[in-house]
Amino acid sequence: MDISVIGSGYVGTTIAACFADLGHDVVNVDIDEEIVATINSGATPVHEEDLPGLIAKHASDTGTGGLRATTDYEAVLDTEVTFLCLPTPQNVDGSIDLSIMEAGAEQLGDTLAEKTDWHTVVVKSTVVPGSTEDVITPILAEASNQTPGKDFGVGMNPEFLREGTAVADFLDPDKVVLGADDDRALADMQDVFAPLIEQTDAPVVETDTRTAEMIKYANNSFLASKVSLINDIGNICKEYGIDAYEVAGAIGLDDRISERFLRSGLGWGGSCFGKDTNAIINAATEQGYEPAMLAAAVEVNDRQPQRLLAFMDQHVDVTNKRVAVLGLAFKPGTDDVRNSRAIPVIEGLQDRGADVVAYDPVAVENMREHFPDIEYADTPEDALDGAATALVVTDWPEITDLDEEFDAMQTPVVVDGRRAIDRRDGIVYEGLTW
Ligand code: UGA
Repeated sequence: MDISVIGSGYVGTTIAACFADLGHDVVNVDIDEEIVATINSGATPVHEEDLPGLIAKHASDTGTGGLRATTDYEAVLDTEVTFLCLPTPQNVDGSIDLSIMEAGAEQLGDTLAEKTDWHTVVVKSTVVPGSTEDVITPILAEASNQTPGKDFGVGMNPEFLREGTAVADFLDPDKVVLGADDDRALADMQDVFAPLIEQTDAPVVETDTRTAEMIKYANNSFLASKVSLINDIGNICKEYGIDAYEVAGAIGLDDRISERFLRSGLGWGGSCFGKDTNAIINAATEQGYEPAMLAAAVEVNDRQPQRLLAFMDQHVDVTNKRVAVLGLAFKPGTDDVRNSRAIPVIEGLQDRGADVVAYDPVAVENMREHFPDIEYADTPEDALDGAATALVVTDWPEITDLDEEFDAMQTPVVVDGRRAIDRRDGIVYEGLTW
C-alpha cells in the first residue's frame, strides 16, 4: 500500500521504516529539513537500535526505495492511508497538549481537500479517550470540506513500542489494536497490518477509536503501577533487611503476576509513563473520577530518588564533595533523558552543595541542556576518581561491569538505585530496596 507517516520522532520514523520493511511504499513527512535530509541519505535521525539498518535498507541511494522523507504535505495525496505520529506534550497541569496534533490535522485536512478518492487517517499518537472522534475528526472534516465516513475515514492505532527496542517491538508485537469508527477505515488498517499479522500471528483487537485510545493509557498505567507497586514492596523489604529481588523472583513465578517489570529501584522515567499517567488522571478527574491508585503510583515514583539521596546522607555529607552520578539516560539503550530519575537525583545533590560529576555512554549531550554547569566525565573511571560517593542511576552494561574502578574513590560508598553493582569487601554498599 501507499502510506504516509506524519512526524519523524522515534515512533514515526520507526513505523515508517517498519512499514517499508513489510513491503509498503512509505513517505515520512516532517517539518524539519535536517531530519528529512538525514532519512533520505539513508541515515537515522533518532538513537534507536535496529533502525539504522532498516533506514539504510529502504531509504539510501542503493536501497529498495520503499521509504523516502519530505517536508511537503502534498506527498500524502499519493497515498491511501496517513498515520499521524506527532508529539502530544504535557501541559503544566498534567493534561495533554493537543495543539501540535490539531495543527497537523488542519494541515492534513487542507491537503486532503484536493483528494477525490477515499483516504484513511490513523491517529498513532497517544491521546486521551475522545480526542480522535471529538477533536481530530472534526478538524479534518472542516479543513478538507469533506465528510467523515463518506469521503475519508479515521482510525486510532496505539503504539506499544519501547524506546531502544522499538523496531523489535513493532515487528514482533504482543497485540495489534485497530480502533475505527467506520468499516472502510478499519479495512484499510487491516490491509496495512496484514503482512505483519501474517508473519507474526499477533492477536488483533478491533474496536472503536475511544476504546483504542483507552487501551494505550490502560497499558502504560498498568506497567507504571506495577513498577511503583514493586518499589513500594521493595521499600518495605528494605525496612526489614529483606532482599526485594529475592521476593520479586518468587512472586514472578505466579503467572498471574509474571516476572516482567518487577525490577525495583529508582522508578520509571522516560517520555511516556509520567506523561500518560498524569494525562489520564487529569482526563478522568475532568470526567468526575479521581483515580487513587494511579495517583499513588506517581507519588511512589516521585519518592524513590529522594529515598536514594536519604540513604546516601546516612553515609556521607556531600557538601563540597565530589559525587559521581553513574547513568543519565532514563533507561539503558537510549540517549533520552526526559523525566530521567537522574534529574531529581542531580537536583538533590546540588541542593546539598555537592560537586557533581556525571557519566553516561550516550546521554551526556541531552543532559547538558538540563545541567550545563556540572562536570561530565568521558569514562566511569574518570567520574569515580576521587569521588566521595557514587550513585548508580542507569544500569548500562558499562556501569554494571564496574568493580575495581571503585577503588579509585576517595571513600568507596556506592548507593545503587538499580541493583547494578555486586557487593564486595572494600565497598560500602547501599541498595535502594535490597
Ligand atoms: C513504555 C512502554 O513500555 C511501551 O509499551 C510504550 O509504547 C511506551 O512507553 C510509550 O508509551 O511510548 P518506554 O518508556 O520506552 O516504553 O520504557 P520501558 O522499557 O517501558 O521502561 C519505562 C521505565 O520503567 C524505565 O525508566 C525503566 O527503567 C523503568 N522500569 C521498567 C523499572 O524501573 N523497573 C522495571 O521492572 C521495568
